[in-house]
Amino acid sequence: MPLDKAKPSFVLPKLPFAENALEPVISARTISFHYGKHHATYVDKLNELVAGTPYESMPLVEVVKKSARQEKDKAIFNNAAQAWNHDFYWHSMAANGGEPSGRIKDALQSSFGGVKEFKEAFAKAAVAQFGSGWAWLVKGADGKLKIATTSNADTPIAHGETPLLTADVWEHAYYLDYQNRRPDHVKAWLDRLANWAFAENNLG
Ligand SMILES: [Fe+2]
Repeated sequence: MPLDKAKPSFVLPKLPFAENALEPVISARTISFHYGKHHATYVDKLNELVAGTPYESMPLVEVVKKSARQEKDKAIFNNAAQAWNHDFYWHSMAANGGEPSGRIKDALQSSFGGVKEFKEAFAKAAVAQFGSGWAWLVKGADGKLKIATTSNADTPIAHGETPLLTADVWEHAYYLDYQNRRPDHVKAWLDRLANWAFAENNLG
């Protein structure tokens, strides 16, 4: 069925919280730029790039997986993956993130030895990610949880892994609030914003 050309193929999803909901860890100003400029631009750019290609009628997740295998579609991959990663990132945060409990706490315990141990390992990986990228909690094929980092737009869904939670460590995620202090941002993110209910839901 031909698509209605007046309608973009992909739309910017709504934020799951108010722009000021994550203060003081992340300011409304940061969210406003990050969501309203950066995330929105990835979606707009993706719509431009997929126009007239088979990608325009695919679900976003399929665009990410298929374009990841095509070097000629690198620009499509970058914008599709960033559109997907950001939506996943917004859901990875909650104003009342609190501490993990229930199934997700048990999974962290068995995979990392405890919540404290998990946080230390995740923070270390997030801080060590050189340049722009993402830190992830993922579920491997063996059911074990592990920490992964990806560079730029890269994403675990392009590698057959199941992400549970992600922290954006591009400077645009924290620079207005923390400048170069990525470790402080990551610690506050883990202690106060990580959305454990979302992570548990992603366990399946
Ligand atoms: Fe970002």
